[in-house]
Amino acid sequence: MLQTKERTAIARLWNRKLDQDAASAPKQERHRNLEPASAEFLCALVTGVGARRVIEVGGSSGLSTIALAAAVRETSGRLVTLEIEPTRQAESRATLGSLGLEGYVDYILGDAAGILPKLNECDFAFIDCEKEDYIRFFDLLKIGPGGIVVADNILSHGLSEYVEHVRSRPKVESITLPIGKGLEITRFL
Ligand SMILES: C[S@@+](CC[C@H](N)C(=O)[O-])C[C@H]1O[C@@H](n2cnc3c(N)ncnc32)[C@H](O)[C@@H]1O
Repeated sequence: MLQTKERTAIARLWNRKLDQDAASAPKQERHRNLEPASAEFLCALVTGVGARRVIEVGGSSGLSTIALAAAVRETSGRLVTLEIEPTRQAESRATLGSLGLEGYVDYILGDAAGILPKLNECDFAFIDCEKEDYIRFFDLLKIGPGGIVVADNILSHGLSEYVEHVRSRPKVESITLPIGKGLEITRFL
């Protein structure tokens, strides 16, 4: 469960994102944070399945990172979060530090394309980066039986190619949930 101060930090990031959208800020300046309802769901899902080795692809300024870090605090796990843009990752570090969550997180700065092949197997992964990279990064993840991959923006961006790809894999179950911008939940059997 998220604590009140964590929900407050999520609301602050989300309100800034809404302000940036309203001002039509250029894409490179926008933080494109996860919807708060999706963050709550991610936290509940990771906690509920007891995932301990969690990877996040596209941490940005840390909204979803707060939710995943709060979850691994409950499961006695660890979160590895990847972000290519240094100022966003620095902001995430500062925010999670102020919430007492930084100790649950390994921050890696760089391109997930080069980093994911070096990471070990995980129980849970969250993909929230550039949409054209989703399939490639899904395939780079090492997920064992019982592991789960969640991808955001499935409905907002019409990511049917990603959905078809994950559902064509043997030994997976996958559903789209209309939470926030649409989450694809893929479970390895
Ligand atoms: C939609 S935002 C993530 C929002 C974040 N999950 C949150 O809730 O605040 C996508 C992020 O992915 C990062 N990104 C894009 N391509 C990447 C890559 N190849 N490797 C690592 N991060 C990447 C971007 O810099 C951006 O901050």
